Amino acid sequence: MSESTGSRPALDLEAFPPSFAWGTATSAYQIEGAVAEDGRAPSIWDTFSRVPGAIDNGDHGDTACDHYHRWREDIALMKELGTDTYRLSVAWPRVVPGGDGPVNEAGIDFYDRLVDGLLDAGITPSVTLYHWDLPQALQDRGGWTVRETAEHLAAYTTAVAERLGDRVTRWATLNEPLCSGWIGHLEGRMAPGLTDLTAAVRASYHLLLGHGLATQALRAAAPGARIGLVTNHSTVAPASDRPEDLAAAARMDGHTNRWWLDPVYGRGFPTDMRELYGVELPEKPGDAELIAAPLDWHGLNYYFPVTVADDPEGPVPYAREVRLPDVPRSGMDWQIDAGGLEALLLRLTEDYGVRELYVTENGSAFPDAVGPDGSVHDPERTGYLEQHLAACARAVRKGVPLAGYYAWSLLDNFEWAYGYDKRFGLVHVDYATQKRTVKTSGRRYADIIRAHRETTAG
Ligand code: IFM
Repeated sequence: MSESTGSRPALDLEAFPPSFAWGTATSAYQIEGAVAEDGRAPSIWDTFSRVPGAIDNGDHGDTACDHYHRWREDIALMKELGTDTYRLSVAWPRVVPGGDGPVNEAGIDFYDRLVDGLLDAGITPSVTLYHWDLPQALQDRGGWTVRETAEHLAAYTTAVAERLGDRVTRWATLNEPLCSGWIGHLEGRMAPGLTDLTAAVRASYHLLLGHGLATQALRAAAPGARIGLVTNHSTVAPASDRPEDLAAAARMDGHTNRWWLDPVYGRGFPTDMRELYGVELPEKPGDAELIAAPLDWHGLNYYFPVTVADDPEGPVPYAREVRLPDVPRSGMDWQIDAGGLEALLLRLTEDYGVRELYVTENGSAFPDAVGPDGSVHDPERTGYLEQHLAACARAVRKGVPLAGYYAWSLLDNFEWAYGYDKRFGLVHVDYATQKRTVKTSGRRYADIIRAHRETTAG
């Protein structure tokens, strides 16, 4: 055991291999700003954030953390935290503003500089190609409901890989297709804001097809690429032992977990969910093999577990989330349960046979304030971090091949429909001045990383 801060719960840092990658994560639209600079065209989030009432406080990503101009300062922050790796996403509407067609050199130049800056700082970039910012031009042609969008993702992927593939080896195709598919097309709480089951099922299919095509494109354009998919999951518990609630939990598990994993791991789309949705999939011969193309790693994003009860009159999947009383919750009102992370890591390993795993996102929002002395003291986020790292260590002890952990997020940023009020950063951002302040949780993360290095050195 090693522990750098006396009074805190011990963390089993020796569980993590010496090569364990400690990182932070962000995404383009949430931090970059500069939405109309150097040839970037609007994405579906630029459009959606202008829909009255769509985003809390009418917030949008026009300036966000101004990372487009402050990336050097942000790399310096990563150095200060002592992280080995940084997970970023490339903005499709910067690189191929029309969605398909010509590459915008000024747009890809930004990522070229960023990658060089990271490597100069000794930080390994992990690049996600699609973190929800679909070029609006493609949305106007049907977005993810049409097959062509998956094909355009592959062409854009080729353009990015041809430019960055000589230096970037860790690639992810999509981030959280569940959110694009279900929240964006079924629940309407994210761009493009649809509430249409047929559109949602078709979008989910084309997203996973896009993942397969982008994987193929990466293998061709960047032979050294190590490719993964990043999916978000929750453990699902029934609200009671009633058979109806048990069945509701199985449906929610299908909707949240199996729909996004089974096809990627060669099992096809789950039959029970196909029947439940009752929407014909736009399948073509060869698609299933593309979607199930072998991957080098899998990225798990984990935030909270869910408990559900049967809800026959409710929306698909007819399972209503039950709010448990007296459980710890973050500022998102999400239940905090690190055991869910351990369980999902084990499931990916044991049930799906994943051979290399990263926690690609994990973190919590709390209403932070800058204190009179200029510091940001965030004990709740620090506790969340410690509990979830302890869960990772337990999972590794049980045989999970966990290669790294990325804290969400490096910076406070644009939290989609919640705007800027929800702060997930290890680093506080004062949006009026763009001043960055490392929070206590960031200092704690730096301590943990240092302690792990000391523990495993020699
Ligand atoms: O901010 C998001 C991120 O973009 C995707 N995963 C969940 C985070 C917190 O909600």
